[in-house]
Amino acid sequence: MKVIAVASQKGGVGKTSTCVNLGCRLAMDGLNVLILDLEPQAQAGSALGINLTSESDSVHSLGLALSDALGRVERKALRDIMFDRSELVEEFGGGRLCLLASEEATMTMAQNAFVTVPFTMTPVLRRMLVKEFSEDFDYILIDTPPAVSSLNAVGMAAADFVLSLVNPEYPTVKGAMILKEAVQAVESLTRGECTPRFLGAFMNRSNPESSWTVEDVNILGLMINSGLYPYVTDVRRDRRISRAYFDGKPAVLQHPNHSCGKQYTELLQEILDRTTTPEEQWPIAEMPGAEEETEEEAEDA
Ligand SMILES: Nc1ncnc2c1ncn2[C@@H]1O[C@H](COP(=O)(O)OP(=O)(O)O)[C@@H](O)[C@H]1O
Ligand SMILES: [Mg+2]
Repeated sequence: MKVIAVASQKGGVGKTSTCVNLGCRLAMDGLNVLILDLEPQAQAGSALGINLTSESDSVHSLGLALSDALGRVERKALRDIMFDRSELVEEFGGGRLCLLASEEATMTMAQNAFVTVPFTMTPVLRRMLVKEFSEDFDYILIDTPPAVSSLNAVGMAAADFVLSLVNPEYPTVKGAMILKEAVQAVESLTRGECTPRFLGAFMNRSNPESSWTVEDVNILGLMINSGLYPYVTDVRRDRRISRAYFDGKPAVLQHPNHSCGKQYTELLQEILDRTTTPEEQWPIAEMPGAEEETEEEAEDA
């Protein structure tokens, strides 16, 4: 079981889209995958065709399970509240694809509860996952809310690895930098119990390199210089991704052979490679024109 959280201090950068597309891609490859939605807006569920309502379905909400765990009241096992969405990957001969879904009222309740308990409770989700799922899933992908939420820390503490992402806009780079610091703080905050590793940041909603502006170039430079280890693969701005998000069937399933599906395949490979190598060995995105630079130019610079 490898747990990967997708996180940024910023909202709207593409965390949920990334989580569901990478999760589906892994399951299409025959792996057993759990997508875990820690975001009160519950959009990972929507993207996989599951929408919980507070009246009838909150019993299935991960938010309720977390609140109950914090309140030390009896709760259902996570395996009894999760949804099996394997049908989505069936046509690809896929593995198991499951979802632990969020619901707004109950997840907000959990978010508020985490603010009132000591920080030593932050690993509660990690403990639940290890106890219940160590044998069941190859990968657990966690969709997190922006870092202002107490649930963000809970998601990072539950993870072995934290992947971040930016858009071609300066503030999103700052969002990833803050996130990286937050990942590094988890170990001491949980007194050594949780040791998530920062996996770098990729560019989501990128522009084609042929039409890069000065801002695009500067943002990549900033990512390199601030230790964000930008991925070689980026994910282009593509309406297929946003449209699929609202169909309950992520883009990789609808367009596996289109460039928008293939880039998730390449990104996933880079992510998995990073999980098994030290960061000094990670290939990172190069500045445009960098490969053409002669030794003399490099010396002048
Ligand atoms: N590469 C992309 N191309 C086009 N639209 C995208 C892309 N990535 C995300 N989106 C869209 O942007 C919006 C915000 O993305 P989302 O994944 O919900 O971000 P977050 O979870 O970080 O708030 C959604 O409508 C989503 O479909
Ligand atoms: Mg989201």
